[in-house]
Amino acid sequence: MKRIVVLISGRGSNLEAIVRASRAEGWAARVEAVVSNRPDAAGLAWAEREGIETAVLDHRAYAQRAQFDEALAVLVERWRPDAVALAGFMRILGPAFVQRHEGRLLNIHPSLLPAFPGLHTHRRALEAGCKVAGATVHFVTAELDHGPIVAQAVVPVQAGDDEATLAARVLVQEHLMYPRAVRWLVDGELAVDGGIVRHTGGASQLWR
Ligand code: GRF
Repeated sequence: MKRIVVLISGRGSNLEAIVRASRAEGWAARVEAVVSNRPDAAGLAWAEREGIETAVLDHRAYAQRAQFDEALAVLVERWRPDAVALAGFMRILGPAFVQRHEGRLLNIHPSLLPAFPGLHTHRRALEAGCKVAGATVHFVTAELDHGPIVAQAVVPVQAGDDEATLAARVLVQEHLMYPRAVRWLVDGELAVDGGIVRHTGGASQLWR
């Protein structure tokens, strides 16, 4: 069995999607542990109810970002993960963590990167008058919301959309795309060449 660790900070709906897909589809991988930087993350309680090991590493206990990073790297290594999936994890990871897990570290970001890295992506897409919005799964590099793109999901922006309606439409696609991308990674079906990610079996990396 390949081993997956999921990092969260909040609700954990993408975590749920990954766990449910891994079980329903009989993956050769399982979510071994869920780590949150926030003790009150709803996803932690869900994981506990599902019998998944959980851990909290509260960033407020660390004066320096680099110390938190180092502690997180040590903690996550406890499970010897083949894949580390950031799912609504709201801390920027430093080079110490990223380099240690390079090539097995994925993030999902709710915009069509490279547009709108950072926060408030749906609001910014609406303010820019975008006609499409979406989400991106990418390999994590030391630069925030950067790194080789594994998959993207595109949804229309509809007249009358607000942040909440657009976020909900995107989230439906996130829950389909992220489990698929994590499975590709643990099954060894992703090749990166010159910063471009290709699914070796020719699967579509676009959801729409
Ligand atoms: C998702 O929109 C994800 O793309 C972003 O944060 C949100 C997390 O939601 N990184 P959840 O905690 O998975 O429900």
